Amino acid sequence: MSGEDALDAAEQAHLDDLAHRVVEAEASGDERAVEAALRPRRLDEVVGQERVREQLALVLAAARGRERTPDHVLLSGPPGLGKTTLAMIIAAEMGSPLRLTSGPAITHAGDLAAILSGMNESDVLFVDEIHRMSRPAEEMLYMAMEDFRVDVVIGKGPGATAIPLEIPPFTLVGATTRAGLLPGPLRDRFGFTAHLEFYEPAELDRIVARSAALMEVPVDADGRAEIASRSRGTPRIANRLLRRVRDYAQVRSDGTVTRDIAHRALDLYEVDASGLDRLDRAVLDVLCRRFGGGPVGVSTLAVAVGEERETVEEVAEPFLVRIGFLARTPRGRVATPAAWSHLGLTVPAGAPFSDSALPAEATLFDEDADPTG
Ligand SMILES: Nc1ncnc2c1ncn2[C@@H]1O[C@H](COP(=O)(O)OP(=O)(O)OP(=O)(O)O)[C@@H](O)[C@H]1O
Ligand SMILES: [Mg+2]
Repeated sequence: MSGEDALDAAEQAHLDDLAHRVVEAEASGDERAVEAALRPRRLDEVVGQERVREQLALVLAAARGRERTPDHVLLSGPPGLGKTTLAMIIAAEMGSPLRLTSGPAITHAGDLAAILSGMNESDVLFVDEIHRMSRPAEEMLYMAMEDFRVDVVIGKGPGATAIPLEIPPFTLVGATTRAGLLPGPLRDRFGFTAHLEFYEPAELDRIVARSAALMEVPVDADGRAEIASRSRGTPRIANRLLRRVRDYAQVRSDGTVTRDIAHRALDLYEVDASGLDRLDRAVLDVLCRRFGGGPVGVSTLAVAVGEERETVEEVAEPFLVRIGFLARTPRGRVATPAAWSHLGLTVPAGAPFSDSALPAEATLFDEDADPTG
């Protein structure tokens, strides 16, 4: 192995390691099969997302009443909140077959033409990560969504001909974690857009109860609450933590998940009371203890915790910002009073948000400013 290969291998191992953190919102490869068993199959089994559920129920009931295919549906929101689940439910509620593909799998317009030409009336076509589709395929999709027709181009150059192809009416369900990356014309062609929100602890509590019942794991109310409160508002993480806690309960105790068991298991996996893992805590710790709460550039922060800048920015920061522990400001990252208190520290005089620093710090919150690195 050359030096460079060794570095690549080390880098890959490191990335794999991060991908396997217990609080990762994205699913790991072998997790998909486990998840399938826990997916709600019907709209009324879905926990939380009341508004989306009610809106979707209306769209589907109206379509059934008219005996037409429902409007195209766009599901947007962070990983692990239930987009794939809802896509499957839409097909199930309509009694229609579901066809699955994803943006990255459609590299040419021809790939999409092949899928569309194989569709039957009222099929549901689910395109996951729809923001990653190629541009020519996207343009073909516009026409298919609006007119149920595509032009298949045969040949190249001046001799090329476009053959129109009729497609039976279908419902497109697109899912994206990055709605902002979808071109306007594509977004506009969806009749209904559902934005999934992070879940409240009470909802996660119900999800844990439901999953535990399906997995036949005895869990008491306190045990459930403990798992729910560390799940970062994300059902996928709640289900994963439940599996880890179940293992612990089974090996170290009588199999029942109680608060104490959940507590000990999650301590072992280094997921703290707010759902922070080792990396999240390291970032806060360095920010407060070494840099007095900031502001400090993200590159400096990354070096201090021994990680790549991208890792700190993309893996740790989004959640720290979301729960209000860290703020991105034009002058760098700052710790909020909640972060200090989470670490069991008091905000020292002179730190951002301390009484002595308040007036000046007000200017730090400029959302539009590009955070310096
Ligand atoms: N509202 C819900 N009620 C109960 N369980 C849920 C709910 N939403 C999601 N889940 C569970 O969370 C897991 C992840 O959901 P899903 O795969 O639908 O997320 P996703 O939004 O498609 O994520 P990704 O962006 O990574 O594709 C599923 O196994 C499902 O059981
Ligand atoms: Mg999905």
